[in-house]
Amino acid sequence: MGTYLVTGSASGMGRAAAEALRAQGHRVIGLDLKEGEVIADLSTKDGRNRAVTDILAACEGNLDGAVLAAGLGPQPGKERCPIIMQVNFFGVVDLLKGLHGALAANGGAKVVIVGSNSTTTMPMIPTRAVNALLRDDLEKATKVVGIFGDKSPNFAYGASKIAVTRWMRRAAVTEEWVGRGILLNAIAPGAILTPLLEKQLADPETAQAIHDFPVPTGGFGKPEQIGAWIAFMLGEQAEFLCGSVIMLDGGTDAFFRSDDWPVAVPAVKLRWYMNRMKEFAARRR
Ligand code: NAI
Repeated sequence: MGTYLVTGSASGMGRAAAEALRAQGHRVIGLDLKEGEVIADLSTKDGRNRAVTDILAACEGNLDGAVLAAGLGPQPGKERCPIIMQVNFFGVVDLLKGLHGALAANGGAKVVIVGSNSTTTMPMIPTRAVNALLRDDLEKATKVVGIFGDKSPNFAYGASKIAVTRWMRRAAVTEEWVGRGILLNAIAPGAILTPLLEKQLADPETAQAIHDFPVPTGGFGKPEQIGAWIAFMLGEQAEFLCGSVIMLDGGTDAFFRSDDWPVAVPAVKLRWYMNRMKEFAARRR
C-alpha cells in the first residue's frame, strides 16, 4: 500500500479523495489549514516552504503520489486576488517542485491536480495574467486581473486555474517529470456540491448565475464521485495517462466547445510540429 499527500484534505474534493485512498488501504498525509497530518497555509511562500519540510518528514522522502486539491473559489473583494492565485497556482506548483525528490524516489509516482472547467468555459480570462503566473510574477498577474474591478476575483480564479493546468501539461512531458517516472495529470470539475459551492449558493445573485450555467446532465457533481476519479487516476490502470485534463463537468465544456477540440495541427504549425518530433527523437538517443 502506498503513501499519498492530499492537500485540502479537510473538506470537499480533497476530503473525498483522502477517504477513497484510505478505503483502498493507503496511508494519506492530509494537509489543510486547521486539521490534518500537516497544518499549513499555502497562501504564503513561508507556509509552502514549511509544508514541504513537514511533508518530507512525514513521508520519509518517498511519496507514491499526491493530490493537490486545496484551493479557493472566486471570493468577493479585490484584495483577495493575490491570495486566490497564491493558493491555486503557487500552492500546487511550489509544493510539487519541493516534493519532486520524494516523488522521483518512488519510481512510479502519480499526481492529480484539481483544476476547473472555468479554464475552458469562462470567457475573457486574460492571457497576460496566465503568462505572468507562469513566470512567477504574482504582482503583474494581480495588476492585470485588477482591471476587472469588482469582478477581478473571478478572473484571478480563472487565470490561476489555466496557469496551473498549463504548467502541468508543460511539465508532464519533460525528462524532469515523466523522465523520472512521475505522471502529472489534472481533473477539471464543473459545479461540485462541496462547502465551497455551498458558500457560493448562499448568495442569491451568485446562486442565480450558477443555476443559469448550462449543465447538460443537470444538477451538481458529488465530491465522492470526484474522489473516486482521483483514486482511479492514482492507480495502476492509469499508467498511460500523462499530461491529461479530465473534464468532470456534466457536459458544460462539450456544450460550449464541442468543435474546439480535437482539431488537426494547422499547416502553418507544420514546421514547429516536425521540430518537436526531432526534439523528441534526439531526447531518446
Ligand atoms: P472546499 O472549500 O470544500 O475545500 C478546499 C480545502 O482547501 C479546504 O479544506 C480549505 O481549508 C483548503 N484550503 C484553502 N485555502 C488553503 C490554504 N491557504 N492553505 C491550505 N489549505 C487551504 O473546496 P472544493 O470545492 O473541494 O475545492 C477544491 C478545489 O477544486 C479548489 O481548488 C476549487 O477551486 C476547485 N474547484 C471546485 C469546484 C466546485 O464546484 N466545488 C469546481 C471546480 C474547481
